[in-house]
Amino acid sequence: MTSPRRIVLSSDHAAIALRQTLAAHIAAKGYEVTDIGPTSPESTHYPTHGQAAAERVAAGEADLGIILCGTGQGIMMAANKVKGIRCGVCSDPFSARMIRAHNDANMLSIGARVIGEAVALEVVDAFLGAEFEGGRHATRVDMITAIEA
Ligand code: RB5
Repeated sequence: MTSPRRIVLSSDHAAIALRQTLAAHIAAKGYEVTDIGPTSPESTHYPTHGQAAAERVAAGEADLGIILCGTGQGIMMAANKVKGIRCGVCSDPFSARMIRAHNDANMLSIGARVIGEAVALEVVDAFLGAEFEGGRHATRVDMITAIEA
């Protein structure tokens, strides 16, 4: 992938404030940000929002996706059901860097009830700043893709 510039964000109700903070942070760094919501604090269903963001990435409408729910787990599970999506939950910058470098993850999931804003910003920066290393890692990513087929 050429340098990812187009980032789509989504979350459920548990992560609206953190998602909006991350969206502003990413936009300030010069990325093209599409925040597909929701904005209402009413209880909603994380699979809907994980799927919506994942479909944007899978369709090539965004280079990378960042999704959030309370734990980051449920919305990650939903996103990973969309063909072509590799999404990991990260609570630390090392993992966020490695899911790009080794797993060619195209989506990052964050638990808004798990980590605070400062760590979440570091996680996002690590994810966006890393590049897939290819080589032996490409073989393994191809094996993941083969499972889908
Ligand atoms: C919502 O209460 C919560 O279940 C959701 O945000 C998420 O943590 C699910 O994985």
